[in-house]
Amino acid sequence: HSVNASFEGFERLDVMEDAASGLKAIIAIDQTKLGPALGGCRMWMYASEEAAISDALRLARGMTYKSALADIPYGGGKAVIIGNPATDKSSKLFRSLGRIIERLNGRYITGMDLGTTSADMDEILRETRHVTDVTGSLGATGNFTAEMTAYGVYIAIRTSLKQKYGSEQLQQRTVAVQGLGKVGFALCRYLHQSGAQLIVADLDNRLVQLAASQFGAAPVAVDAVHKQRCDVFAPCALGDILNDLTIPELQCQIIAGAANNQLADPRHDVLLEQADILYAPDYAINAGGIIVTAAELNGSSASYARSQVERISHTLAQIYARSAGSTPGTLPPAAAADAITRKRLGI
Ligand code: NAI
Repeated sequence: HSVNASFEGFERLDVMEDAASGLKAIIAIDQTKLGPALGGCRMWMYASEEAAISDALRLARGMTYKSALADIPYGGGKAVIIGNPATDKSSKLFRSLGRIIERLNGRYITGMDLGTTSADMDEILRETRHVTDVTGSLGATGNFTAEMTAYGVYIAIRTSLKQKYGSEQLQQRTVAVQGLGKVGFALCRYLHQSGAQLIVADLDNRLVQLAASQFGAAPVAVDAVHKQRCDVFAPCALGDILNDLTIPELQCQIIAGAANNQLADPRHDVLLEQADILYAPDYAINAGGIIVTAAELNGSSASYARSQVERISHTLAQIYARSAGSTPGTLPPAAAADAITRKRLGI
């Protein structure tokens, strides 16, 4: 069955359960004002249906903001499957979701996210063409989505150095990278090539060793990486890393990383400003992935996508200028990014 409700400014929320395939999923559509809702499909072992719904809503709204700020003509949406990605996947499951997406008639376009792969998108493709990241697509080839996310963050780090020190030079600069996954590892490569010193941490020791041998990175414990004295701290693992406990321990000048929802609460942006730490708003600088997806949908090339990712620098400089131009304490960078985005959305 499928329930359709509209509330709190969201355009549509579908909660569905299909006994035949075992599918339990949620599709949240925040906005389609600027274009069809774009946002990947996450598969996770949510503790409850409520937890899955609130994650889908938060992620869908996040996608609206990310696309609007990156000037991409799409709205925000997200699909969430309740289940264990290691054990609960089947062709039937994804085809069932595909049929539901097909019924939405192009209002929502899905893609890969945490817990899903191109092979899963290939199953969805058998039922609907409103899917990206299928095998052989621009985003799926050679990890291009993650690579461009890393490239965008790298550019944002340079822009932030310029803002803080007057020079975007990475030589003699130290960057602490938390998380060496698809994005974090690629980010280390860009930084190393530009002469930065690296400090790294990951739960997976193999990745830490690889970063040490390939980039001369200095490994530290996972619970110590945010405390390092450095120029830039780059969170590239989980969200909520900037909170009441971690902020007093920071010894960096700049925070710029790929992780989504880095601030545990919006007010933490003010604490960072008070500590004289420059914060590059997460959704402004990790838009590389969605820029690639939009390019894929429009049939654009990889080099076009790359040139669009480079515009992150201009967007971030605009955010910093807006923040710096306001009375101290009234508009830290994350609030400035929100203000610029809301204006574009007319909300
Ligand atoms: P991933 O799953 O490939 O890598 C995450 C890495 O973080 C893993 O190696 C994991 O072991 C490590 N990790 C987890 N907890 C940790 C901890 N407490 N301390 C240190 N390391 C820890 O994920 P991916 O794709 O690299 O994404 C990283 C972040 O960037 C996520 O927050 C994701 O939502 C965000 N992001 C990713 C995009 C993409 O294109 N892949 C696009 C936009 C945002």
